[in-house]
Formats: sequence, C-alpha cells, structure tokens
Amino acid sequence: MSKGRIFSAMQPSGKFHLGNYLGALENWVKLQKDYDCIFAIADLHALTSAYADPSQLKENSYNLLLDWLSAGLDPEKNIIFAQSHVKEHSELHLILSMMTPLSWLERVPTYKDKLQNLGEQGKDINTYGFLGYPELMTADIILYKADFVPVGEDQNPHLELAREIVRRFNMLYKKEIFVEAQGLMSRAKVLPGIDGRKMSKSYGNTIPFAATPDEIRERVKLIVTDPQRIRKTDKGNPDVCVAFRFHKLFNEAEVPDIECRCRAGEIGCVACKKRLAEKLVEAMGQMHALRQKYEGRYDLMDEILEQGAVKARAIARQTMAEVREAINLI
Ligand code: TYM
Repeated sequence: MSKGRIFSAMQPSGKFHLGNYLGALENWVKLQKDYDCIFAIADLHALTSAYADPSQLKENSYNLLLDWLSAGLDPEKNIIFAQSHVKEHSELHLILSMMTPLSWLERVPTYKDKLQNLGEQGKDINTYGFLGYPELMTADIILYKADFVPVGEDQNPHLELAREIVRRFNMLYKKEIFVEAQGLMSRAKVLPGIDGRKMSKSYGNTIPFAATPDEIRERVKLIVTDPQRIRKTDKGNPDVCVAFRFHKLFNEAEVPDIECRCRAGEIGCVACKKRLAEKLVEAMGQMHALRQKYEGRYDLMDEILEQGAVKARAIARQTMAEVREAINLI
C-alpha cells in the first residue's frame, strides 16, 4: 500500500553536490519504497539562470539523471522524466500566472537573495521567468496533486507559496481541484559547505557528488575546523567545527570517540579529517558501481525519460482537463 504521492525535482545545473544528495536525493531513494514517486529534471527551471548560455543544458540533464541512477533511484518503480517533455507544466504555469498577485512572488525570500548573488557573478537574472520561478515549481507539484515534496530546507518558502496558490485557485473557482502539498525534510536540512556556509555551487564550497576518491580527500582537507585550535594538542570544541558536523552525518559510529578525543586534545584536525574522508570515499564508492552501468549509455537514459514522460503526461492531462473546465476554457 502506497503512503501517498510524492513529487520532487532538481535543476540540471551541472554541479550536483553532497548537499543536494543529503538534502534531497538520499531521502528520495528511501521514500521510493513506500510512496508513489514522480521525479523531474527541472530543465526549464535551469533556463532561468542558464538562458544566455544553454550549451551545457542537455549534458547536465543526462548527468543529473546519472547521479540519480547511481544513488539507487529505480526507473521501474518511479516516474522519472524531464520537465520540458511534459508540456502541461508550461500550460499550468501560464494559467497560474494569471491569478497570482505580483507581490506574492516579489516577497519570496529566495528571489532577492538569488538576484543579488547571481548578479554579483555577472549573471543578469532580472527577468520575467526568474520572478516566476516558484510559480513554475508550484505548477510542477500540483499538476500531479502530490501529497509530499521531499526537499532541503531552502525550498520551504517555495512550498509555502505553492500552498497559498492552491488555496487561491480552489477558492476562486469553487472547486477543490488542487491539494496542499507538505514538505518532507531530510536528516540534513542544510548541509554546510567546506567553509561552513550552506553548501552551494554559487559559493564554490561544495564537495561534488561525482568526485573521485582523491578529489574527495582533497576537498575534505579544506573543511574548516575550530578556529581557536592552533596546535593539535590544544583542546578542541566540536560544537563550532564544520568537520564534526560532517562526522555526525557520515560517520555516526565514531562520533562519541571523536568528540571525546577532540575535547581532550588527543586527536588533531588532520587525523580527524582523514577519518572523515575515508568514510566519505566508502559511502560514495558504492555509488560509482551503479554509475558505470549507465555512463555514456544515452540510449538507456533516453528510454527511461521517454517512458517516464508517457506516464507523467497521462496524469498531467487529466489534471489539465479539470483545470480547463473550472476556468471555462472553450
Ligand atoms: P536545486 O536543484 O537547487 O536543489 C536540489 C535539492 O537539493 C537541496 N539542497 C540542499 N539541501 C541541504 N543542504 C544544502 N546545502 C543543499 N543545497 C541544495 C534543495 O533543497 C533541493 O531539494 N527549486 C528546486 C527544483 C524544483 C523543485 C520543483 C523541487 C523545481 N520544481 C518541484 C520540488 C518540487 C531547486 O532549485 O532545487
């Protein structure tokens, strides 16, 4: 018996990292056992920041699919497809845009933050489409009447807006067509980057998901630790150490030992991070095996996306029929 329907998506922005994995993908892999799951490659969303140079978009989309498959997402069990293959996403986005007050979109906290952040990197995202980013996300979710949306904490304001739009739609057209979806947070709501800020491709502080064992070791060496600790015999404070936060997520069994030794000044930061790196290498190693099955197999990946799109379209068309009727389109 399914516990309900799940929808989630990720942007193919080409830099899939451990934050995306722990914040969402790891959860997706667990949830696929108990829920009806629909997962989309949000390639239209990616255009909001890549519109000026979309040359990598197709390759990034395949790479994202590859990341999902290597983490253990099962294409037989779930509906996996590309957002742009199911035109109903664009249609519903347009219709919702007619009834969403501008102020609702302007006050979404991620809007101004990202505008500034990407602006600093020389990207002009002062566009109509970027303002409507959460509107498209709302269309994605409600098209499938999803009950739950597994995402990292940073997506919460978008889910809040989606629920507001659902209430407004159902109220305006006096029909309970859409469902208010709830977020499903993972164990790492926000994974820090190696510098302690949120792990994010725009901060350059990530550990890439597809990193080789040596790349992982190099990145882990750069993780910031307790700044007060100069010599390895100094007593450390794990509460302010970014590496310790990683240990809690990837190396639970050794946490009590590491905490005790760090506080006593018995283990240095270099040795402590070496232990962490090996745990990460071990965890990621299992995924590399699955990756090899699909790497370069565009035929297999196209087949997965095509089959997924057929199933997604069937649901999306049904919802759009209800929408068209509710708003009296001819
Ligand atoms: P995106 O592609 O930016 O991120 C994908 C997922 O990774 C999570 N995440 C993190 N979690 C914890 N710590 C971090 N440092 C971290 N960085 C990223 C994000 O929360 C997300 O779950 N708008 C979405 C894509 C989208 C979508 C949707 C999601 C489009 N339509 C419909 C849900 C439902 C996004 O930009 O994710």
